[in-house]
Amino acid sequence: MMTKQIHLNGFIQHSPSPHSTGLWKHPKDQGTNHHRISYWTEAAQILEKGKFDAMFIADVLGTYSVYQNSFKPAAQHAVQFPAHDPVLPISAMAAVTENLGFAVTISATYAQPYALARQLSTLDHLSKGRIAWNIVTSYLESEATNLGLPQRLPHDLRYDRADEFLEVVYKLWEQSWEDGAIILDQESDTFADPEKIHAIHHEGEFFHVPGPHLVEPSPQRTPVLFQAGASPRGRDFAAKHAEGVFIKNHSLEAVKAYTADLRQRTRRQGRQPEDIKIFPMILPIVGSTEKEAYEKYEELTNHVSYEGTLALLSGHTGIDFSTYDPNQYIEEMKTEAVQGNLDLYAKDPKKRWTLQEAVKNHGLGNGTVKFIGTPEQIADQIEQWADEGDADGFNIAQAYSPGTFQEFVDHVVPELQKRGIYRTEYEAGTLRENLYGKGSVHLPSSHPAKKTRISTGNKTLTTIRES
Ligand SMILES: Cc1cc2nc3c(=O)[nH]c(=O)nc-3n(C[C@H](O)[C@H](O)[C@H](O)COP(=O)(O)O)c2cc1C
Repeated sequence: MMTKQIHLNGFIQHSPSPHSTGLWKHPKDQGTNHHRISYWTEAAQILEKGKFDAMFIADVLGTYSVYQNSFKPAAQHAVQFPAHDPVLPISAMAAVTENLGFAVTISATYAQPYALARQLSTLDHLSKGRIAWNIVTSYLESEATNLGLPQRLPHDLRYDRADEFLEVVYKLWEQSWEDGAIILDQESDTFADPEKIHAIHHEGEFFHVPGPHLVEPSPQRTPVLFQAGASPRGRDFAAKHAEGVFIKNHSLEAVKAYTADLRQRTRRQGRQPEDIKIFPMILPIVGSTEKEAYEKYEELTNHVSYEGTLALLSGHTGIDFSTYDPNQYIEEMKTEAVQGNLDLYAKDPKKRWTLQEAVKNHGLGNGTVKFIGTPEQIADQIEQWADEGDADGFNIAQAYSPGTFQEFVDHVVPELQKRGIYRTEYEAGTLRENLYGKGSVHLPSSHPAKKTRISTGNKTLTTIRES
């Protein structure tokens, strides 16, 4: 049997030190250059050299202003702020790479499906099939109030709406244009055969979109679909739609529980458990000896901004921690923000976390697990999480950018390759093929996008095309 192959994503955001709060002060960090194209092209080239599947670009559309009910602490400490547009650097990066994918975060709560479908199809064309969409429903109140809502929609309603959002984009991507619609026939002055391009006539609870899709089918048609559902409703959403799932945990036990549960939910949706690739997020801290790696960890921790991390954690959990004592324990409660982020500290079976301890942990890699050690030790942990935890790959967070990527690519990737658990060459040109094997450019027939139907007036399209 072939050894299980792992996949890798590099986690980044269009802000200074977005996932390690305060690390913009570190001498090795380049995050304050995030507004320059060269920052992005360099990071993309590093990841491609390391044969990463994709760069995963996170995004929020608002400020972390739960803490002290103000955006000012977040602004002072650069807490995912400034927050530039994540989509715009992608075509520049696609121009200097050939195989690296780009998984971009766009909120299904605030985007319009018709416009989002157009934007991602355009990028999928420009990158020759290397685009993924990280589907989020958004957790910050400050996003809602700046984008036309009086307040954040309730958590589960956000997912109900996102379900219909996906139905609309599936119709646009998979059904609106038949294969071969563009014929470029000069004789008959025909660019496209209009009989092969269809309105979608979507009339639902949340969206009314007549169509047709504005863009002809891109290499992958539907971009690769990523999601990060953690709640029961979020997991069901992931099980139905996602091809890749991002998770954040402290422990192997938590990963095991998640992967087992999600695979079961996926089966219940009529899909194969292996149709979803699960990517725990890790922050690697590499040293030439274990001692050096732990010293590096302490040194990185010293650059974390305490108040900035309080603002981050308050935004993630929806709790204003300015009212807490640093030695106060974080208690279980229900939140409309990110329940999983609160549960990391409130429901850890191994220990009770004080606020102070949680801040120390959350400031590096947004609270995710740290793999600290020599390249061999980090590879050991990766193997263990892949084998025992049933993880398909890893989402590599950074302490300083792009230095954490560079160190991982220089030291850990060769070790993974030596062990035969990681590619030495890309399998193919499109992102979906790199994730699922050569030939799987399009979604499999078991995916709900393939079952969505539009009425074309005189006929219901059942199978427009074979993939
Ligand atoms: C690794 C990782 C990255 C995430 N990136 C984003 C992001 O960029 N933007 C965002 O709004 N939410 C992001 N989230 C939050 C998820 O979209 C989701 O809200 C969260 O995991 C909670 O799941 P739930 O909505 O099912 O409770 C991320 C979550 C994880 C685990």
